[in-house]
Amino acid sequence: MNDAATRANDTFWIRANRHLLRYGGDFVPFVPERAEGVFLYDANGRRVLDFTSGQMSAILGHCHPEIVATVRDTVGRLDHLFSSMASAPVVDLAEALAGLVPSLPKVVLLSTGGEANEAAIRLAKLVTGKWEIVGFTQSWHGMTGAAAASTYKAGRRGVGPLMPGAFGIPAPNAYRPRFQGVDWRQELDDSFDLLDRQCTGNLAAFIAEPILSSGGVLDLPPGYLNALQAHCRARGMLLILDEAQTGIGRTGKMFAFERDGVVPDILTLSKTLGAGLPLSAVMTTTEIADEAEARDFLFYTTHVNDPLPAAVGLKVLEVVQRDRLADRAMTSGARLEAGLRGLQQRHPCVGDIRGRGLLLGLEFADTDRMAASAISDAVTDVALELGLSANIVRAGSSGGTMRIAPSLTVTDAEIDLGVELLDAAIARVVPA
Ligand SMILES: Cc1ncc(COP(=O)(O)O)c(C=O)c1O
Repeated sequence: MNDAATRANDTFWIRANRHLLRYGGDFVPFVPERAEGVFLYDANGRRVLDFTSGQMSAILGHCHPEIVATVRDTVGRLDHLFSSMASAPVVDLAEALAGLVPSLPKVVLLSTGGEANEAAIRLAKLVTGKWEIVGFTQSWHGMTGAAAASTYKAGRRGVGPLMPGAFGIPAPNAYRPRFQGVDWRQELDDSFDLLDRQCTGNLAAFIAEPILSSGGVLDLPPGYLNALQAHCRARGMLLILDEAQTGIGRTGKMFAFERDGVVPDILTLSKTLGAGLPLSAVMTTTEIADEAEARDFLFYTTHVNDPLPAAVGLKVLEVVQRDRLADRAMTSGARLEAGLRGLQQRHPCVGDIRGRGLLLGLEFADTDRMAASAISDAVTDVALELGLSANIVRAGSSGGTMRIAPSLTVTDAEIDLGVELLDAAIARVVPA
């Protein structure tokens, strides 16, 4: 950086520190000015490879030309409407989503993942007439009321009572099992036995991510969702799947639940649906929708069914399907996984590689000198210095697992570059 650039950078951080409320730890010491594809650029032209697709959302890469054109075109014609007005982009997107999951043909469009889960939980409570909600103890479903009450990964301290009737059960973790010799089925059965004892007979729903991303990329093993759904059905509970990160092709299928042949009662989509722009959706069955309408379901928000984000979502689906991006996630994911496994062979501190498609986790193991979480944080920082943004969670809360999820449009050369940079970062933090 030349002197003028250094001064501008210092001034920026003075102003940022003066005015920005910290909402989740420190800011990353890189200030993007422009983004294109999988790269971010600062004002000096320094380039950083984005291996987390922003906040796990930009599945088409940044500033995809067709998304840019859709936003430009739509905002000039039809931006925001009275919440009781339906418009063509909204009906088009609802129809397109229903076409992907025919048994969930009823759709409402919202803005964020937390908001979609809020609506899903409210829907489940209303139609079951019950109010107890169960989630995984490593989950992340959002920062608002009911979604936050079902989020166990972080954020439960110091904010007073969360929603009554919130229960958590552990998700299976094959790399670090809680008990030796206890398989996931036994653990699940036992968890429901404990739930049955603790609940007040008002279990309304279970909310789950098919791959617990914030929880450390814990992929529910094949068969788990089926067993979970059976437990729910036995108790009259609805199954809500939150595919904020796994939906729209990232795992190699349009939705992660397709691998298991389990269709939830309620599906929530967010992050990837807008490919980085604020759009989320709740999808459900006709029966649930009819019952909810009969009971005056209310989820009336300012941006419900807004046409502009809906037009974006429609374009995202079109591009993902036309360009067969779910298939690409599978092949690119295999290449990335092979690269990460190579790192595991070269660096004994890399303990486990896991995930599906282009949602992968790299978990460090403790060494004699460093704890896994310290390694993960240090590698994240060094990788950024080297030009790679490779972990969505920083400073202490990663739990030792880096989450890697580039956009589905990433090229082989970009994958190889990312693995190379990660290799160099690990070598610098934990020299052989
Ligand atoms: C699985 C999952 N659900 C919901 C959310 C919340 O989404 P939002 O931050 O858009 O409210 C997140 C955010 O990380 C998430 O990972």
